[in-house]
Formats: sequence, C-alpha cells, structure tokens
Amino acid sequence: PYMREVSGVRVLEDRLREKLKLKSVIVVPGDSDESEWVKEEMGKACVTYLQSISRPGQTLAVTGGTTMASVASRMTPSAGMEDWLFVPARGGLGERVEHQANTICVEMAKKAMGNYRLLYVPDPISEESYQNIIEEPSVKDVLGIIRSSDIVIHGLGDALTMANRRKTPDDQLAVIKERQAVGEAFGYYFSQSGEVVHKVRTVGLQLEDLEGDREVIAVAGGSSKADAISSYFQPGKSSVLITDEGAAKELIRDT
Ligand code: G3H
Repeated sequence: PYMREVSGVRVLEDRLREKLKLKSVIVVPGDSDESEWVKEEMGKACVTYLQSISRPGQTLAVTGGTTMASVASRMTPSAGMEDWLFVPARGGLGERVEHQANTICVEMAKKAMGNYRLLYVPDPISEESYQNIIEEPSVKDVLGIIRSSDIVIHGLGDALTMANRRKTPDDQLAVIKERQAVGEAFGYYFSQSGEVVHKVRTVGLQLEDLEGDREVIAVAGGSSKADAISSYFQPGKSSVLITDEGAAKELIRDT
C-alpha cells in the first residue's frame, strides 16, 4: 500500500508540474488542513530540496507564516550550508512574533549553522516612513542582500485568511474583498487570474525581484489553499512548488 501511495504522489507531481509550468514540484502525502504533521513533512521536503541544491556561500531569503516555521523546525546542518547567509524576505506583516520572517530566519540560520542578518523596521509601514527608512544605511544594506539573494523560500496563503490573521484595516479589507483576491504571498494579494489586486506597503522583497536567475521555492499545502496556489502561479513567479496531496488533488481536479 505504501508503494501505491508513493506512485500516486509521483503522478500528481508530474501533472502539477505540467499544469503550473514549473521546474519542479514535490507533493507530500496527506492534507495539512486535516493533519498538522503534513505541514511538517512539507518542511522536511523543503529542507531536503535545499540540501540538494546547496552550494557554498549562498544567501537565502525566507518569508513568515506557519509553513515557513515548519521548514525552520526541520532544518538540520548540512555540508555546504555552514557559510550560508539567511535574511528575512520581508518584515513582520502584522504576524505573531513566532511567525514573523525575522524569527524564522534566526532559527533556520542557527540550525543550519549559518549566519543571519535581520530587518528591524515597522511593518506594515506608511508611505512617508517607507521612503526615509529604505535610505537608512543598515536597512539599505540588508535590503541589498535580500534583493540579490540566491534562493527565496516563501509561503502562500488564502487571501481572506491572511488578511484577517494580519488584522488588516477595514478599508484595505474592503478592497481585498471587492477585488476578489483569492491568494496572498509576500504581502501581495492576487485575483484568480493572477492579477495583483492589493499590495501591503512593506520593506523587503518585491514581486519584481523574483525575476532573474534565482531559485524561488513556494511551500504551501492543504486543500483550502488550492485556489490561492493557482492564482499565484498564473503568471508563474516561482520555479518550485512544495505542496501536499490535499492541495495537489484539488489543483488538478479541473484539468
Ligand atoms: O503569505 C502567506 C503566509 O505566509 C502563509 O502562512 O504558512 O501560516 O499558511 P501559513
């Protein structure tokens, strides 16, 4: 029965890779909406993937959220990673401290026995403060590292779930609903067709930074995230997706 399960997952990986036009898709068995350990398995799969592409001296930017926290919890030291530099891709975005990118970044770096630099900025931030703060030398320095990082790993969320979790102000929440956002990543909200319908002003990685020659890995699962995943991948912003069977089955349902 185990072999059958594994081969089923392989078929899902192939179909999803084709459908989303990605370089690589990894599907772990189970549905993280139903069992918490499936999220841990995605974390483990992400660590294994990182180790497989590991080269000395790389920089890795990581976002926040519970899925990225599972990647950090599964991180282990590995040859070639000890001189990696870990940075948060963005600021806190109103998340609880344990789910903020800074916190996750420190845990990952320590477990990988690498180094880290953090971003100390209010987040979200007003337009006026934003323009000043990005000129601060210490912030500018870390922002430069983030924007040129070799690897980006990030979570993806259901738009309304994320907006509520981050205590989004009512006027912004109204825009997110009215413009029918379904997915969220790095503070950007996407409609089903992949259009950016709202963006939280934060310091850190911007969507346009994902272009170019770098490894961008999305880690998101649970059948409830299927629409969010497909909205984010419409124009194809990441090259690798690590997900679970719950989301994968839902995603290929309408092909
Ligand atoms: O941007 C999306 C969120 O970081 C995803 O959070 O992993 O807790 O679902 P989550």
